[in-house]
Formats: sequence, C-alpha cells, structure tokens
Amino acid sequence: MGLLSGDALLPVAVAVAVFLLLVDLMHRRQRWAARYPPGPMPVPGLGNLLQLDFQDLPYSFYKLRNRFGDVFSLQLAWTPVVVVSGPAAVREALVKHSEDTADRPPMPTHERLGFRPHTQGIALAHYGPAWREQRRFSVSTLRNFGLGKKSLEQWVTEEAACLCAAFAKQDGHAFSPNTLLNKAVCNVISSLVYGRRFEYDDPLLVRTLDLLEALLEEESGLVTQVLNVFPWLLYIPGLVEKIFSGHMALSVLLGTLITEHRTTWDPAQPPRDLTDAFLAEIEKAKGNPASSFNDENLCCVASDLFAAGTVTTSRTLSWALLLMVLHPDVQRRVHQEIDEVIGQGRRPEMGDQARLPFTNAVIHEVQRFRHIGPLGTPHMTIRDIEVQGFLIPKGTTLITNLSSVLNDEAIWEKPYCFHPGHFLDAQGNFMKHEGFIPFSAGHRACLGEPLARMELFLFFTSLLQHFSFSVPEGQAQPSDCGVFGILLTPRPYQLCAVSR
Ligand code: HEM
Repeated sequence: MGLLSGDALLPVAVAVAVFLLLVDLMHRRQRWAARYPPGPMPVPGLGNLLQLDFQDLPYSFYKLRNRFGDVFSLQLAWTPVVVVSGPAAVREALVKHSEDTADRPPMPTHERLGFRPHTQGIALAHYGPAWREQRRFSVSTLRNFGLGKKSLEQWVTEEAACLCAAFAKQDGHAFSPNTLLNKAVCNVISSLVYGRRFEYDDPLLVRTLDLLEALLEEESGLVTQVLNVFPWLLYIPGLVEKIFSGHMALSVLLGTLITEHRTTWDPAQPPRDLTDAFLAEIEKAKGNPASSFNDENLCCVASDLFAAGTVTTSRTLSWALLLMVLHPDVQRRVHQEIDEVIGQGRRPEMGDQARLPFTNAVIHEVQRFRHIGPLGTPHMTIRDIEVQGFLIPKGTTLITNLSSVLNDEAIWEKPYCFHPGHFLDAQGNFMKHEGFIPFSAGHRACLGEPLARMELFLFFTSLLQHFSFSVPEGQAQPSDCGVFGILLTPRPYQLCAVSR
C-alpha cells in the first residue's frame, strides 16, 4: 500500500521518466555520430512523428529536403530513418550500394500476420537466401511464361480485347474506368499465377479486388504505421484480426484457389502457370528445411504478385486516361500515330512499340509525371555506408524519394508539366532518359517491370485504337492532383469513351 502513496509515487515516476529518457537517448545516439545526415530535432519518445504529414509525405519530404539537403535523417519514435533525394544521391544509394541497401526494415505487423524466415514472400522479405530464391523463381517464371499454351503477350492482348468490349458496353455514357481497369489487370496476374482469367462479373474476381483494395488501405493506414512504431500494441487481444481483416481474408481466398488448382495439377506435364511451377519446386524441396518452397510461401508469393502487380499497373492506366482527357491535343496525336501504324484492322502487339515513338513517349511521361509510388518501398542498410559524404549506419531504414528524381528540375525540361517531349529527340524518335526510374533500381528493383511495360503499352494502345476519351458534358475538368496513400491515386473522376 505504501508504494501507492503520493510520497513514494514521485520518486518512482521520476525514475521511470529518467529510465525512458535514457532508453530514448540510446536509440538516438547515432544522431551525434560524425557525418550523420542532418534533420529536424526529434522529441523524446515520438521522435519526428508529429512533424510529418502522413497524408502527404512527398510534400513533407520536399520541404525537409529544401531545409536539410539531399540526404536528411528522421527519427520515427525509435526507428532511425534516412531519406535520400535527387538523382545523384538516389543512384548512389540504390545502384552503387545496391547490395548494402537491399534489406527491408522489420515490419512487426507482418510478423504478427505470419511472416517467418521461409515464409516471407518477396516484396517485404529480408535480404537473404529465401528472398533470393523466390525472386529468382518469379523472374524466371515470368521470363519463361509461355511454357503453357499461351504466351504472356497473348494473355494481355486477349485481355485488352475484353477490356475494350467492356468499355464499348458503356455506350458513350459517363463512367469511372477504375473498376474495369482493375479487373483487366488483375486477370493478367491471375493468368500468370493460375493460368486462368475471370469474367468481369465473376464474384471471385470482384472479391479479390475488394480484398486487394482493403489490403492497400490497411497497409497505408495511420494505425498500421503506429503499430509498426509501437509493436507492443499488437498484443492487444483481437486488434490484429480487426485491423488486418483484408490481409487475412485475401490469404484465405488465394489459399482456396491454390488448393483447387492442386487438384488439377499433373506433375508429369509441363507447368501451366506459376502455381504449377511452384508446386513442382515444393516436391523437389521435400526434406530440405532451408528451402523457401512450401505451401504457406506459395500463398505469400501469390499475394505479393497480386498486390504489387495489380493496383500499380491499373492506377497508372487510370492516370493515362485522365491525362488524355485533360490533354486532347496529345490524345489526337496518339490516335493519329496508331491509325497510321496499326489502323483498325488488327490488334496492337509488342512489335509495334518501336514504330509508335509518340505513344511510347506518352506512356513514359504518364509514369514520370504521375508516378504511382513516389517514395518507392522502404529499404534497410545491411552495413554502414556513405552517401554524398554522409554516414548511414547499418540497420537504418532508407526511403528512396523516387519522385524527387522523376521531377528533378536540373534534368527535366518541364518537371511539373505533362510533356511527352521529355522522351523524344528533335526528329521525333523515342529517347530513353537516365532520370526515368519509376521501377526503382538495384537489387530490389521491380521484378514485374517487363510485364508492367507490356501491359501499359498493350492496354493503352488498344483503348486509344478504339475510343476517344473526353470529360462528360456538364462535368467540371477533373483534377490532375493525386491523393497519397501508399500509392498516388487520381481523385475519383468520370470520362466518356466514344467509339472511333
Ligand atoms: C506500373 C507498374 C509498376 C510500377 C510503377 C512498379 C514499381 C515498383 C517499385 C517502385 C518497387 C519497389 C522497388 C524498391 O524497393 O526499390 C516494386 C517492387 C516490386 N514489384 Fe513492381 N511495379 C509495377 C508493376 C509490377 C508488376 C506487374 C508486378 C508483378 C508481376 C510487380 C511486382 C513487384 C515485386 C514482387 C516487387 C518487390 C521486389 C523485391 O522486393 O525484390 N510490380 N515495384
């Protein structure tokens, strides 16, 4: 009882406060290391959390970069973070120190959701043998796709035709294109993973997309950031199930589809899709405890491919259509080029890309001007490194500010305008640009880049071959400013797609 009396409580409170301050100081000690990047002064316990606008982190980082330079530090509660911006610093971190920065920071929320050393999927896996094995497997499966009956290009071309048919059904009336774009792009991942597509009204496709949207909301929600910073909160009974219901339901759904798929798998036949190839690897790895080929990881890899490969591509296509509506002069030139090179008599194919330099430049400029992942995915250093003369210690979370490169004033003629000329030379030929890094660079660069480029080209060209896009009569011009979650998304808008 004596312990609870006022006299005794004060020294205990002071001792606890001093202890917490010491722990806090210990977590911040690297701030005082020589050549540690500068940054705003953190407050005890919370660090710089209250100085950031989590609704618009790219803008917070823009202001901090103006104050502290291309390499600055932050303290998110007890997590040390360094943000690198601008072409030189980002390249140095991602390319020169590609392996040193190839880890991902620990995510307590994912660990609670079942992340284990051999069950980490790819996108958020720690740098190590399990990640390497799965990355290699996915890259080679994507490359060799076509072992089955159809090549990936055929799947995408046929899906593009289905998408055009669904747009045509709108009969020129105002509609939001996002749901149809999501369905088409999700079907491409489904053909890769399960060797099948779904009709656009199939409840399984609708449910998968609903759960992917829920997963994205859960990942970008403030609660998730708070839980990753204060992981002991994750032990509140029932909290994980409530906050991550989308994650959990998606795993169950993908698991059910995989179980169904297994019943039709014939190991004696060549693999029909990624799931077949993975099941064959599981058989080979039986008895090898070091292997990451197991049933749970198949579900994690499938979930990663759906999550990383669906909304990214469909949101980019949504930006592309929005920008066509806002720039009818650019749209006219794309129509003209497609009419001259492809006409109306056949479907676009990848072989046309080299003969459509303006269209290709427009797609690149969409990705530059409205990049869906302005801050990339966080990395973590596996050893001490130096970037632009600053020391970044081992174990630091690294944010690579991709939009600072894609909008850099020194390397782009009109960084804040939609200007396809960025990718054209004086003769109108397509021209690559060293600052174009929407898929990031180095060891963790997007492994779906070839597929994403194919989808963007075939879907965009097919849609523009068949339709003219415009703002619905009586509606205001939509805004080209986005909303930032984990991805930069166009604000809700409608368009009319009139058959040409
Ligand atoms: C326009 C479309 C896309 C964009 C802009 C994009 C961009 C990115 C970026 C910026 C990263 C993070 C790289 C880093 O950590 O530095 C990434 C990672 C990843 N992307 Fe994509 N992506 C797109 C489409 C796709 C597609 C279609 C797939 C699947 C087939 C895919 C699968 C992945 C995976 C698995 C990773 C994690 C790689 C790793 O951690 O090793 N992405 N992507």
